Parts: sequence; structure tokens; C-alpha cells
Amino acid sequence: MRDGPHEPTPRIVSRRTVALATLSLGLTACAPAERAPSGTATPTSAGPTPSSSAPGPSLAPSASPSVAPSSTPPAAGPLTSAPATASSLAYSLTDPASQWVVVNKRRPLNPIDYAPPLARPNVPLEVSGESAQVHPTTARAAEALFAAAAGAGASMTLASGYRSYATQVATYNAQVAAHGQAMADVASARPGHSEHQTGWAFDVGAPGGCNFAPCFAGTSAARWIAEHAYEFGFIVRYPFMLHDITGYYYEPWHVRFIGIEASTDMKRRGVATLEEYFGLPAAPTY
Ligand code: DAL
Ligand code: ZN
Repeated sequence: MRDGPHEPTPRIVSRRTVALATLSLGLTACAPAERAPSGTATPTSAGPTPSSSAPGPSLAPSASPSVAPSSTPPAAGPLTSAPATASSLAYSLTDPASQWVVVNKRRPLNPIDYAPPLARPNVPLEVSGESAQVHPTTARAAEALFAAAAGAGASMTLASGYRSYATQVATYNAQVAAHGQAMADVASARPGHSEHQTGWAFDVGAPGGCNFAPCFAGTSAARWIAEHAYEFGFIVRYPFMLHDITGYYYEPWHVRFIGIEASTDMKRRGVATLEEYFGLPAAPTY
């Protein structure tokens, strides 16, 4: 785990160099399943498959979460108390049905082929089928997010939502075929390790041909998301230069629902990753 946000400059330069070199190679992360070679994707049923081995008490997300944006930005302030810890968790970090589940290279889904309940949000879609769906709670929050973005003049689409275990097999294998395993592993999750399989995450697209590409960061959609997504319970899950923690290079398009309370708390504290927020080990590799 890294020391915190105030790292020595040499280390930052080193990590920046690696990241920029990777981006200049044109490696795009989180490519949707639709980009996999045809015939390789074998989506599974989209029906709910609750885990019978989920640990802990029942921590299912609220059936009617508030998705109203906060009227004022969170007050900036020093870290006077620790971020959420195991003793103060409202939701499980391991149950894939929990909106706080942390999935990364060190934390596979359990069960590995977990499938969430799904709903298609009423937002502009660039995909169809399972990819156009997300967890019902994510869907309601996404509708509020997209409506606010549209009201602010930020045009955006849902470019990739749910991906089943089988679809992630195809997506990951396509990345390996195109870039080799080492590069694939910094852009695409191995099957059973993707947030897309939980239904809590989706990728945002924008007009102009920058979907899943570094230039997405310069779109009005990306700028609006970076500033306002937390107001609707979302975070940008793979921030710039934090791949040593998250395991993935910058994905300004990949948003993850965690609920407004947690997303606002992270914003207020200036904590950018779930690993740091929940005090979990960094997950740079498998
Ligand atoms: N691109 C993200 C890490 C995924 O494949 O889930
Ligand atoms: Zn994604």
C-alpha cells in the first residue's frame, strides 16, 4: 500500500512516465464486450443469482436509495477521523450484492460467476442486451446522473454496463490477443475480477470518438463526471496515477456506484480509491 497522497516526487514521476507511455501506445481499457471477437462472447442469463455464501449480516442495498443530488458541495476539511473501517461498515465489502463490495486483483467475486439482478436504465445507450443493463439501484442513480449531466449540457451515453463472467472471459481474452497478457492486465479485469460483473459499475461514452480512449478525459462528459458524479453516489473508480493501488490505469469513463453518503464522504476527505477509503491492501497485481 502506498504511503498516501503526499508521495515523494521521484516516485510520482516514475509512475507518471509508465502511465503516459502506456497511454501513448493507445491501449484502451475497459473495452466493452462487443469489441471481443465475434462468436467468443457467450452471455449468461441476466437473472438474479443471490450468493448463498455471502458473509456477514444482511447488508443488501436500500430498496429506495436517495439519488437526489446534494445541493451544496461537501465542505472541505482535514481528516479528523478515519475513513470507514470494518467497525463502522454499513454494507459488506465482500458480498457482491453489496453496494460497497470491493472487487480488484486481490479480491475476486465470490461466487466467481456471480450474477446480479439487472435493470435497463432510461439513459442514452450505445449498447444493447446485457451490456445495456446494470443493478437496479445503479440504474436509478444513473438516470439521475444522466439527467443532471444533460441539464448541464454534458452529452453522454452508457457505453458498457453489466458483463457476465462469460462475457468478461471474451473481453479479457480479446485484450490479451491484442496487447499481450501483461498489458491486458493493466486495462481489463480477468474474469471474476471485474466490477462490471457486479452491476455496480458502467462506462460512460461521449460524442466524438473518444470512448475508451485517453482523449475521453478531455470531453465535457468526463469533466462533468469528475466534478459531479459523487453527488449521485458514483466515483471514478480508476483515477489518474493510482494504478499502484487500483491495479488499472486511468479510466475516466468507468464509474462505480457506492451510494451518495460514501461518495460524498470520499470527496470531502479527498480519498480517491476504495482501497484507501476502506483501509484495504493495494491491489497492483494478481
Ligand atoms: N477495465 C476494468 C478494470 C474492467 O475490465 O473491469
Ligand atoms: Zn469499465
